[in-house]
Amino acid sequence: MTAQPPLIEVRELGHGYMMAGELMTVLHEISFQIHHGEFVAIIGPSGSGKSTLMNMLGCLDIANEGTYLLDGQDVRKLSDNKLATIRNEKIGFIFQQFNLLPKLSAYENVELPLIYRNLPHKERKQAVEDSLRLVGLEERMHHRPSELSGGQQQRVAIARAIAGAPPMLLADEPTGALDTKTGIEVMDKMKELNALGHTIIIITHDLSIAEQAKRIIRIQDGELVEDRRNLA
Ligand SMILES: Nc1ncnc2c1ncn2[C@@H]1O[C@H](COP(=O)(O)OP(=O)(O)OP(=O)(O)O)[C@@H](O)[C@H]1O
Ligand SMILES: [Mg+2]
Repeated sequence: MTAQPPLIEVRELGHGYMMAGELMTVLHEISFQIHHGEFVAIIGPSGSGKSTLMNMLGCLDIANEGTYLLDGQDVRKLSDNKLATIRNEKIGFIFQQFNLLPKLSAYENVELPLIYRNLPHKERKQAVEDSLRLVGLEERMHHRPSELSGGQQQRVAIARAIAGAPPMLLADEPTGALDTKTGIEVMDKMKELNALGHTIIIITHDLSIAEQAKRIIRIQDGELVEDRRNLA
């Protein structure tokens, strides 16, 4: 074992929203750790707080209460600029609706975050082509999203998420917009990436998707009600 800190450590995370002058609690005293190389599904019914938790884990928002250490760093203490850098370098996001830019080709969509990172052109080209190859889209690099199937679009989004080799992939309902067969293909791709060493966190309300992860964390009414290894 190494002395590396957990990739993620949340301690008694709490969050709420003000609604009509009253605080509505959405997350309540959530605590867990996720280590490098894990494949975790966060599951729970609609409205249970999964996306709110994803926003915290992805440093898109800061919880009202509790502590979030990402790679040992307390995100509450970081400036907005530093948080943006961390998001770009440490986290690959995958969303239900793919969030690809319609006017850009698959290649350009994958390239964009690497441009923000100031990666030199040659390295960028290599990273873009490698990640599109990894998701099996080398033949479709110059297609726009509208010229691709749903599953292919999600694979472009996966390529975009992994191109910068972030330690962690954070996916919110990545198969939600896909039919069952295509969803399985996307999950197979996630498993392959996990086998290559990526830490993967998938948020889903679909138990059959969650069962493919190695660990399942269940949220209900904003509370962590179960955290188990999945032996399947
Ligand atoms: N910006 C906001 N302002 C007020 N309430 C919010 C806000 N975002 C989320 N909520 C509320 O917080 C609760 C949890 O929402 P969240 O989006 O985290 O659920 P979820 O588990 O992702 O649900 P789903 O499976 O439907 O995506 C819901 O009751 C929702 O209405
Ligand atoms: Mg959600």
